[in-house]
Amino acid sequence: MKTFADLIITGANELLTLAGHSSEPKTGKQMKNLDIIEKGAVAVSKDIIIACGTWEEVTDEVSISSNTLEIDATNKVVMPGFIDCHTHLVFAGSREEEFEQRLMGASYLDILRSGGGILNTVRATRAASKDELINKSLGHLDTMLGFGTTTIEAKSGYGLTIEDELKQLQVIKELNCQHPIDLIPTFLVHTTPPEFNTTGEYIDFVINKMLVNIQGMAENCDIFCEHDVFDLAQSEGVLTAAQKLGFKSHIHADQLSDMGGAQLAARLNATSASHLDYISSTGIDAMAKSGTIAVLIPGASFFLDSDTYPPATDMISRGVAVALATDFNPGSCPTESMQIILTLACIKLKMSPAEVINAATINAAHAINRAGTIGSLEVGKQADILVLDVPNYQSIPYHFGVNTVGTVIKKGKIKVTVMKNNDKENV
Ligand code: NIG
Ligand code: FE
Repeated sequence: MKTFADLIITGANELLTLAGHSSEPKTGKQMKNLDIIEKGAVAVSKDIIIACGTWEEVTDEVSISSNTLEIDATNKVVMPGFIDCHTHLVFAGSREEEFEQRLMGASYLDILRSGGGILNTVRATRAASKDELINKSLGHLDTMLGFGTTTIEAKSGYGLTIEDELKQLQVIKELNCQHPIDLIPTFLVHTTPPEFNTTGEYIDFVINKMLVNIQGMAENCDIFCEHDVFDLAQSEGVLTAAQKLGFKSHIHADQLSDMGGAQLAARLNATSASHLDYISSTGIDAMAKSGTIAVLIPGASFFLDSDTYPPATDMISRGVAVALATDFNPGSCPTESMQIILTLACIKLKMSPAEVINAATINAAHAINRAGTIGSLEVGKQADILVLDVPNYQSIPYHFGVNTVGTVIKKGKIKVTVMKNNDKENV
């Protein structure tokens, strides 16, 4: 007996399946392959993909009834939803004044050292109620979904007390119930709050008091390893203690200087290391060997007007698994759009259109340990699917600063439909 499809997408000019990499991320030349099916179709039952292939292959396997919802993807691209594997979603306030200060010559770290930057957002986030944070975050999630993002990692890190970090993580938990986007929670040790005299004292507090209280509320622990923030030994101390409590490791590494953060990530078998603008050659080899995913964030380098971007093509050719993320946050990258990140990765990191699509889907799924269920269009995977209003995959990063989304399907349900003039004529 064939299974009935609740939803079927047909006639895709290009169906990007990205199949075959649920166990291992894509590296090297695999990044150039999107496993494209021309005139492809995908069938969904409930929230799961039940067939994927040509029209003939799909209709051989599934039945269609008058209850099956059909989406015509003629002249369009169909692909998995974007996975934004590094965001700082939950915060209060905004930092456009600091943006203006930076335009006048102040640096990101100068602003942080003088009590602004991350600490500015910490003050606002501490003062905000849970409901205020939920409402603000829901707006950002709506924007993300509209741009085709169906799963995100969301970090805390703007509370810096047990209570305020838990508040952010409870907000993330609540957002998971209220919004279609799935959120993976990460506890971020972001900077030392002003009530501590030294960074060392704060690190002791994190290791001895905070981690046990956060346990159960976050899947991963992350730390901002950077000069004047947390050094290598402090980062290692926190991540090792967190691992003993069951947290997986993420790390902000080598963003503004080469701290040896990539080597630390590899040594600790971290799931991912983010930024890596200043990664050394030794760091590249270490990450290739450990299989730690490099989450590259060209949006932050661009928004901080840096001359240095991560050496993505070198990393890819030397075997590092590369993913992409927005880093959505109020200081270094206030955009919810993965689409613009794809364009920046092509232009600034010299990645190819196929590489950026793999990096923003299947490899991003690996960066948050979800590649078994999302990141590609394969039978048995969750039906998180985009229908993009472009004829081929190259057009995705080619159009920039605009939204190419036609339809967003999350867990088998249509969540976003963008009406174009042509569609309206047909209504
Ligand atoms: O990933 N680098 C540290 N943290 C964020 C920025 C956070 C902020 O400025 O509020 C980042 O770039
Ligand atoms: Fe970040």
